[in-house]
Amino acid sequence: MSASFVQLFYLVATALFVFSLHWMNDPKTARRGVIAGATAMGLGMAATWAQPFVNNHGWMILAVLAGVGVGWPLSRVPLTAVPQRTALSHAFGGLAAGLVGTAKYYSWLQHDLAFPDEPAELVPFRMVAIIAEVILGFLTFTGSLLAAGKLQEVKWIPQRPVTYPLQNVINIGLLVVAVGIGVWLVFEPSSAIAPMIFPVVIVLALLFGVLLIIPIGGADMPTVIAILNAYAGLAAVAMGFVLDNKLLITAGALDGSSGLILSIIMCRAMNRSFMNVLFGAFGSVAPPKAEGEQGEYKPDTVESAAQIMEQADLVVIVPGYGLAVAQAQHKVRELYDQLIKRGITVKFAIHPVAGRMPGHMNVLLAEADIPYTDLAEMDDINGEMPQCDVALVVGANDVVNPAARSDESSPIYGMPIIDADKARTVFAIKRSKNPGFAGIDNALYFGDQTWMLFGDAKNVIGELVKELSGESGMH
Ligand code: TAP
Repeated sequence: MSASFVQLFYLVATALFVFSLHWMNDPKTARRGVIAGATAMGLGMAATWAQPFVNNHGWMILAVLAGVGVGWPLSRVPLTAVPQRTALSHAFGGLAAGLVGTAKYYSWLQHDLAFPDEPAELVPFRMVAIIAEVILGFLTFTGSLLAAGKLQEVKWIPQRPVTYPLQNVINIGLLVVAVGIGVWLVFEPSSAIAPMIFPVVIVLALLFGVLLIIPIGGADMPTVIAILNAYAGLAAVAMGFVLDNKLLITAGALDGSSGLILSIIMCRAMNRSFMNVLFGAFGSVAPPKAEGEQGEYKPDTVESAAQIMEQADLVVIVPGYGLAVAQAQHKVRELYDQLIKRGITVKFAIHPVAGRMPGHMNVLLAEADIPYTDLAEMDDINGEMPQCDVALVVGANDVVNPAARSDESSPIYGMPIIDADKARTVFAIKRSKNPGFAGIDNALYFGDQTWMLFGDAKNVIGELVKELSGESGMH
């Protein structure tokens, strides 16, 4: 394929990447966005492969097979595991960038040593790109692996933040040393000791990735994953400069900037500063108080919950992570239908970080065809909560915890919440008295107006539906 055709393909792929991001902004067009992104990636690969200098087809086929071998199982993970799956994708992206940078350094070094009279390949511009690629790529690799491990709750990886004295000083010191050595390599890329010094940069970057993530608690992990996304994107940009590939530069820049924007949006939704997420060791919280210290749970039955719901004018359903675990979205749809049939207004209160990934609740509710018009953003629904007759909290905990509004000592203080506690009656569905993701008590459950419906969300809502439809025989 001629060079201009390749550039044309790259241009089309770049445009598709931009459209892909745009379409992903809205759940209605998100599927189209995914297809556009995958098509762009396919076009980019095909155009690269079709270039005349790419003639090692055996290796290309092997790489494609390895990619499919890893990608296929990753695409089958349940929705609840998508954050760690995303972290793994970034780990592979980072590793690829790091390895390409390393391979390019040593192959160009070989050329420069073998042909000292020819113009050098390892010019300062390329060396800057290689060093950036290697540092960003390898730190993204180990950082993302650790983040995925923490989210997957791998036993030998501590979930809680690991902190020690002078942690930030040590971390930043390590990065400064790696960058310092990198700067030296930019000016002395083919000196006698350079080939031995280059791996030191790799090791420091790998170590930095680990040290960057261990002080960060689980609750901040999604934000960190978005930041690692940004690093992986920047590593791809540097790789684009090393390989002189425009598609990599534009796709990496899109990836990097969208990751950065997402992490800023998530920080805002959790009311946390960017610096605080990276250096604050969030999550080191005291164990929850024993029951009784906070108040008493008041368990209730589905029969009386159904009776109270039947009398309501406005029911607000607050979904959380437990809805995803129980896969209760279809049962929730049935409940919605039952209530709507009775002329009751039903709204879903969507918190931006409910669940374990951005848009988690929207995706689940869309799966059950719940109309988008009945989904309300946090700021919109909070104004209506004092008029709400029944708030039905389905597997949500941190996102309805009033401590975020009132308890300055709480680790979630300042995070905006859904004001479920302002509803006239609250029914909360959860399986046990265990805390939510942040590991802290929730005063909502002990409130005078709150009644607990203990059990798996799918079962409890199924029972509620039976009550309302009269199928239970007790109606
Ligand atoms: P959580 O605070 O994690 O609470 C979920 C609740 O669901 C738990 O209290 C749990 O109680 C209950 N639950 C679990 N499985 C259940 C089941 N099968 N049936 C019924 N209940 C079940 O969730 P949330 O309120 O959605 O808040 C999200 C939290 O995760 C926030 O702290 C947020 O910062 C963090 N986070 C968010 C994201 C994003 S981007 N969305 C990513 C990672 C972390 P039981 O065990 O007693 O059932």
